[in-house]
Amino acid sequence: MTTIAVTKERRAGETRVAATPETVKKLIAAGFAVTVEAGAGTTASYVDADYEAAGATLAKTAKDAIGKADILFKVRAPVDEEIAALKSGAVVVATLNPYVEKDALKALAAKGATAFAMEFVPRITRAQVMDVLSSQANLAGYRAVIEGAEAYGKALPMMMTAAGTVAAAKVFVMGVGVAGLQAIATARRLGAVVTATDVRPATKEQVESLGAKFLAVEDEEFKNAQTAGGYAKEMSAEYQAKQAELVSSHIAKQDIVITTALIPGRPAPKLVSAAQVASMKPGSVLVDLAIEQGGNVEGAKLDEVAVTANGAKILGKSNLPGRIAADASALYARNLFAFSGLFLDKEGKFAPDFEDEILKAALVTQGGAIVHPNLTA
Ligand code: NAI
Repeated sequence: MTTIAVTKERRAGETRVAATPETVKKLIAAGFAVTVEAGAGTTASYVDADYEAAGATLAKTAKDAIGKADILFKVRAPVDEEIAALKSGAVVVATLNPYVEKDALKALAAKGATAFAMEFVPRITRAQVMDVLSSQANLAGYRAVIEGAEAYGKALPMMMTAAGTVAAAKVFVMGVGVAGLQAIATARRLGAVVTATDVRPATKEQVESLGAKFLAVEDEEFKNAQTAGGYAKEMSAEYQAKQAELVSSHIAKQDIVITTALIPGRPAPKLVSAAQVASMKPGSVLVDLAIEQGGNVEGAKLDEVAVTANGAKILGKSNLPGRIAADASALYARNLFAFSGLFLDKEGKFAPDFEDEILKAALVTQGGAIVHPNLTA
């Protein structure tokens, strides 16, 4: 029988887990055996007894869990001790952050692991259920508003009280992909007045359908800013200057700014300058969701709250999905369960079809080498 191991996350600050009791049950029904390291789900509020009740075998240590497994499920790249414990040729499935965490990738290759980076799963209809970028970005967008609201010393909704009226907060969302759309929806639910901007024309209608106002430089470049894959292009310096001018006067009036702008394979675009932050009112909050890719806001610092001279706070919190660990794990685990379906043949035997376009796109190491074309060039 094909055995899947699930171990505790060992990267700093990681609270999620790659399988939940619900997905363990589904994996077993699909024909796998599952071994879970004791305590693997604790930080995401999943307890050992529930994994056992779902049919998992508990292992005392990561080494025990991994040693006999054919497949290792992780949220983040396994650490050296975990890689050392892998059986030769074992499969590893995780968000490997392969452009950045190159040492882990090399170690996986050296160990002869067959590793899949979930970030590389193509965004085709058949793979939507495996799309970890969407499942996690959605929760990150929600959480960004909660973090922003918590740091903001005023209320988000308008309130009419006997003692007078509390004004609604103004929230500006920059970058309207999966995270940005959820941030808009969440801020609207909390009663804020929401505006948003993006460089992809398709986002205008999406923003408006959520009851927010769209703000962008809608020139010829804007009309062609979306790639065939649905992502943003890196904009020209000229466009960026026009964009900065347009948003400058707007930012000065905002209470909370949430930035989520990313360009695949490139550093995050700088969207908010120090001068724009300085134009904001005391107590304003900026939440930089792109901080792990270098940040959208000048002055944002990874895992710090930067307080500027004018009293604005820039939140550079990493791993926002990890701050909503139970739900983020539940969705991530379902993504991996769907992905695991590609490993079994019709009789339930372990027989991955490496010609399948999803497996092919996500495969990063095999046969002792790094094999993904984006990583070998
Ligand atoms: P992302 O995380 O790569 O980028 C976030 C947002 O930042 C994007 O909307 C992008 O246009 C924007 N951005 C980049 N540069 C900017 C700038 N200078 N100023 C303002 N905004 C800027 O994007 P994400 O969330 O991964 O989604 C990208 C697209 O893929 C969306 O159209 C989304 O609907 C689509 N998508 C399709 C899926 C599917 O078909 N299965 C699944 C998920 C997303």
